[in-house]
Amino acid sequence: MSETAIQICVSEALEESGKGIRFPVTAGGEDGTGFAIRYSGAVYAYLNRCAHVPIELDWNEGEFFESSGLYLMCSTHGAIYVPDSGRCAGGPCRGGRLRPIVVFEKDNRVFWQPDEYVRPARA
Ligand code: FES
Repeated sequence: MSETAIQICVSEALEESGKGIRFPVTAGGEDGTGFAIRYSGAVYAYLNRCAHVPIELDWNEGEFFESSGLYLMCSTHGAIYVPDSGRCAGGPCRGGRLRPIVVFEKDNRVFWQPDEYVRPARA
């Protein structure tokens, strides 16, 4: 039986290449955050952890896209990632990728699905 999905936000809260929405998780036993964004109409989510140095990407809460709206960018050293795969597209994340989190939309709301590594936040 699959585990209960957790609501992140309503669908309208995620605009195309707009601000992302962070949500609390536990990743490998450590407190962390995930984030969801909308790109080409679909919602994607990743662990908020750069593949270069394991720190959060956003320079201001929810600011993940660089100015063109085509890539996600790490605020620390400028690594850029492809929004729909999380693969590194330039900068010091070379060969790395963001850790994806399963998300889906249902009844006009966005949910994430815990897996064996990314778990619900501690109560
Ligand atoms: S920590 Fe993200 S580019 Fe260096």
